[in-house]
Amino acid sequence: MCGIFGIISQQPKNLIKKTLEGLKILEYRGYDSAGIAYNHNKKLNIIKSVGDINELSNKINTQPQIKACIGHTRWATNGAVTTTNSHPHTSFNDEIAVVHNGIIENYQECCDYLNQNNIKLKTPVDTEIIPNILYILRHNKHNIHNFLKGQYVFCSIKLNENKLFLAKKGNLPLYIGKDNNTYYISSDTLALPLTVTHVITLENLDTCEIIGQKLTFYNNTSPITREWKPFNQTFIASDKQGYSTYMEKEINEIPQIATRIMSEYQNTKNIVHIKQKFRNLLKNVKCIHLCGCGTSYHAALLLAKIYEKELKIRTIAHISSELTPTTLLNEPSLAIVISQSGETADTLACMDIIQHHHIPIIALCNVLTSTIAKRSQITFPLLCGPEIAVASTKVFYAAVLVGCLLVQDYDPNIYNKTIQMTQQTLQHARHILPLPPEKPKKIFIIGKGLAYVLALESALKIKEVTYLHCEGYPANELKHGPLSMVDNTTLAIAFGDDTANAVTEIQARGGKVINIPINFENPLAFISQIIPAQIFALDLALSLGLNPDKPRNLAKSVTVL
Ligand code: AGP
Repeated sequence: MCGIFGIISQQPKNLIKKTLEGLKILEYRGYDSAGIAYNHNKKLNIIKSVGDINELSNKINTQPQIKACIGHTRWATNGAVTTTNSHPHTSFNDEIAVVHNGIIENYQECCDYLNQNNIKLKTPVDTEIIPNILYILRHNKHNIHNFLKGQYVFCSIKLNENKLFLAKKGNLPLYIGKDNNTYYISSDTLALPLTVTHVITLENLDTCEIIGQKLTFYNNTSPITREWKPFNQTFIASDKQGYSTYMEKEINEIPQIATRIMSEYQNTKNIVHIKQKFRNLLKNVKCIHLCGCGTSYHAALLLAKIYEKELKIRTIAHISSELTPTTLLNEPSLAIVISQSGETADTLACMDIIQHHHIPIIALCNVLTSTIAKRSQITFPLLCGPEIAVASTKVFYAAVLVGCLLVQDYDPNIYNKTIQMTQQTLQHARHILPLPPEKPKKIFIIGKGLAYVLALESALKIKEVTYLHCEGYPANELKHGPLSMVDNTTLAIAFGDDTANAVTEIQARGGKVINIPINFENPLAFISQIIPAQIFALDLALSLGLNPDKPRNLAKSVTVL
């Protein structure tokens, strides 16, 4: 969560504009407030605002010629969403400004240390201790990791000095990109401009000082060299391809992603090779653990049901943050982690537990440069391209499809039929699941077996973007409790014919029901039956005047525990 963007350049033109453009792309990481810092007129200028990057841009009316700028887009973890609490945070004497992503765990200890040095903090935000400790350390700033505990990355700038200082502890991402005469600092390579040709990824315990064209790296206080890796930016962020939201664009990409995945998982040499490697690993396994959070957990739940049936191997789906060392038995096991971003802290923490048990980890991941991808023995790409909308749609589809293709090769007819059915479901989604004439007070989505998991995922999607109370429930369980909530303000969405009893029970209490027929005959096409609910969530959010791409209180990449 939180996005860091910075620039240091020999060409002092439009640096603020470029920083704002970078931050705009990083907005998916948090968008409750934002700010920038740069040196101009012998002053360290700080501009901050509550709200998204547009709000910040509205506060900036000059584009002075400057050589360095740092910026931040925030998802608040501690300290309310206020202008004062937004980044950059400065040292007590306004000499050093810092933008930061992560959490400083020994905050209190650092506060006490600063107090002993007569430094008083202005905000409750943990970030503020960083510029003050940097001030105390001065020429020893590469020592910073010895003072701060936790997982963090930050970037700082000092009054009257056009240098940037970066530091990373733990798993959070921070990249340096370069083109001819400029260095860009970013939380995600997506935000690097098209001109960038090479990238360095900061590693755990790195610090780096950038002065003009020179970069000096330390790791754990020892000098070190970091290699530039060739980089080719293919992402054009502003391109919603005519759709009004990223969420709609991304749902509409599903048939094309299905085609791509089926082709590459059958034909691409490298993918076929790792698929075979995975199948070999399966031969000696007694238990499979699938892990993920949110939508990725729902993909894990679906795959667990499918694997148990197809492979006849005990398979358990875990919410990443609920996995404990005692869950893992001393038997030949395999773990599969699912993640769109590849940076989810709860899933990374769960990987620590799994690794501690020496269980091989396979990842299904959409971002191949991510920490989860790098820490896994085998990573299967989800081939979706960037997913920008906070609500995951196309990647849910891709994770389940890839998961299915890993364990079985299907008849070419099934592949063709799946693509056809996916296209048709998308085309008829609004007919299959129309918006109700009135806004429902509560929504239940019910189903059995695989359809129950589709119900869970549909409910999550609706909750995320509409803020309405919506619950996915196993159809037959309704009468064991939640039926007490059903009245004439309830809308129920029932997946499949086998929910008929629950449907009549809901109707008898005045609830309205929309039935969605589910077809499980084709072993792959059923995945596309999530599309009507995704579009329903999108349309309902829009009809309520909400922006489905940026739901309140959420962020795309959840890098805190
Ligand atoms: C999905 O719509 C959500 N935004 C959220 O539940 C997400 O799936 C979860 O945070 C996991 O993210 P990941 O797939 O990037 O690990």
